[in-house]
Amino acid sequence: MSSKLIEFIRDMYSTTEFIPLHAPSFSGNERKYVVDAIESTYVSSVGKYVNEFERRIEAYTGAERAVATVNGTAALHTALYLAGVTRNDLVITQALTFVATCNAIAQLGAKPVFVDVSKVSLGLCPTALQEFLTEYASVDKEGACRLVATNERIRAVVPMHTFGHPVQIDELLDVCKRWSIELVEDAAESLGSFYKGRHTGTHGRFSALSFNGNKIITTGGGGMVLCRKDADGKRAKHITTTAKVPHEFEYFHDEQGFNYRLPNINSALGCAQMESLERYVEKKRVLAAKYEAFFSGTDFHFFVEPDYAKSNYWLNAVLTPDKDARDNLLKETNGQGVMTRPVWTLMHRLPMFCSSVRGDLSISEWAEAHIVNIPSSPVWEGLL
Ligand SMILES: Cc1ncc(COP(=O)(O)O)c(C=O)c1O
Repeated sequence: MSSKLIEFIRDMYSTTEFIPLHAPSFSGNERKYVVDAIESTYVSSVGKYVNEFERRIEAYTGAERAVATVNGTAALHTALYLAGVTRNDLVITQALTFVATCNAIAQLGAKPVFVDVSKVSLGLCPTALQEFLTEYASVDKEGACRLVATNERIRAVVPMHTFGHPVQIDELLDVCKRWSIELVEDAAESLGSFYKGRHTGTHGRFSALSFNGNKIITTGGGGMVLCRKDADGKRAKHITTTAKVPHEFEYFHDEQGFNYRLPNINSALGCAQMESLERYVEKKRVLAAKYEAFFSGTDFHFFVEPDYAKSNYWLNAVLTPDKDARDNLLKETNGQGVMTRPVWTLMHRLPMFCSSVRGDLSISEWAEAHIVNIPSSPVWEGLL
């Protein structure tokens, strides 16, 4: 398999050089807008591109309000903060995620709790969530969901749209409603992905996007808080800009805030990247279809979008027949300059989260043993 796959990928990207997992592309107005930002001298926290980038994300996603932040972790931290997550709370999420999901929870003094993912989406499984809550939680007289063993408050659930594939959001929202828990979407990887026609990150009250260098569009570093309500958006803007009360010259801050505003120079890059987003999604979907055809009829299973979703296929994933095949594929491809990688080490194996409360994680562990992420750049070198 390895040598055939390497040949296939080299052929697709028409190169004998190193092939990265995901390279950014700047073929539109990036230079023009960034130079314009520099020439205006507004490169930092104020400038027209910040507002423009937020409006473009709102228009594309359908979010009521989008607030730009310095990175996706900051966006998630803000989203959780505004959802009311506070010290000693518990926040349920998936063990199969990038560490930033859990770091944002821990930054608030809260603790992550791990529940299994679904084989359909690789994101948080609604059945596993319901079963976990039925076994370990109850809702008290005040309507607060608590872990029975410790009486700790379960404040939020954070599903993550793994590799861009939307989770079963309606079912998750149903469970959260039944148990009085806020749902915050970690949509860092899923800009351009839709659940039943509606953009990911617009189902929960708050959610977070990332524009890190490896994402479908990039601002160098950057993120966005998406809010379903205008009032929440105003609050997100306030809290991410040091909670300064607008005034011509006075500096008054009415609460403790964060300095999370995305600089104008990064936002300029974001405005230009948004002009290419639709094209990137289409190219990624063509690339995924090519991979799917390549792996069909083999004992390697290419992971495809759930039938309720249109995915951005941010990072393509193949499931190998067993762990040896996974290790072999990783070794051979990386050894020959075609970058691949295993999925993240599961969060409950990391030293800072290893004592976290968790349910059964057998699907997450199965996924960890079988997944290999393969090159996914939408526009790179010879790729059409
Ligand atoms: C699932 C997930 N959550 C959060 C983040 C954090 O985003 P950032 O790197 O922009 O802080 C990322 C990406 O990096 C991610 O993949």
